[in-house]
Amino acid sequence: MNHLIAPSILSADFANLQRDVEMINNSEADWFHVDIMDGMFVPNISFGFPVVKATKQHATKPLDVHLMIVDPDRYLKDFAEAGADSITVHYEACPHLHRTVQAIKQLGCRAGVAINPATPTAMLKDIIADLDLVLVMSVNPGFGGQKFIEHTYTKVAEVKAMSANSNPNLYIEVDGGVGEQNIKGLIEAGANVFVAGNSVFSAADQSAAISLLKRS
Ligand code: DX5
Ligand code: ZN
Repeated sequence: MNHLIAPSILSADFANLQRDVEMINNSEADWFHVDIMDGMFVPNISFGFPVVKATKQHATKPLDVHLMIVDPDRYLKDFAEAGADSITVHYEACPHLHRTVQAIKQLGCRAGVAINPATPTAMLKDIIADLDLVLVMSVNPGFGGQKFIEHTYTKVAEVKAMSANSNPNLYIEVDGGVGEQNIKGLIEAGANVFVAGNSVFSAADQSAAISLLKRS
C-alpha cells in the first residue's frame, strides 16, 4: 500500500479554516487529521463539534478523528454524526477497549487505537485483529510542534510484526514530529499513515510540503 498523508488541522489557521481545508483538498494529502483534546486526558484543549462540522462541510477527503479525551464512549456517536470517517481512541483512556472498538464500528467508522509513548505495543496483542488502525504516538499527546521520539521506529516495527498474519491491511499511523527527516525510516519500519502538523503548516509552501512527504 502506498503511504497516506494526514495533515493535522490542529496547526491550521482557525481564522482561515476554510482556506486551509481547501489547501488540503487541493493537495496530495489523503486524510484530514482532527485532534480532539479535553484538558483532562491531555493538558490542552483543542476544539469541539462546531469545528469538526465546519471542516466536514468543506473537506473532500476523509476525517481521521483522534480523541485525546477521557471516557470517549460518551461522544462516539456525536463524532460519527459530525462527520468522522475514522475514530481513534486511546488505549490509556478505555477500560473496556473491545466494547469501545465494536461501538465505533457499529457507527460505520473505521476503528483506531492510539498508544502513548510509554505504552508497550504488547498491550494491543488481544485487540489488534479487530482494529482498522493503530496510531503510534511519537510525542506525548497534547501539543503540535514537539520533538519526535526515536523509540517510535521500534514500536512501529513491533506493531507491523504483530499484525502481519492476523491483520495485514492494518493502517499503522504515526503522529507527532513527523517530517521529511524521519518519514522514510518510518515507512521502512512498517508505518503507512503519517500525521503532519507543524511540518506542513510552518512551510512557506504547504502544498509542496505535503507532496514532499507523499513522494518520500
Ligand atoms: C499531538 C497531536 C498531533 C499533532 C501533531 O498531540 O495528536 O496530531 O497535531 O503535530 P506535529 O506534526 O506538529 O507534531
Ligand atoms: Zn493526533
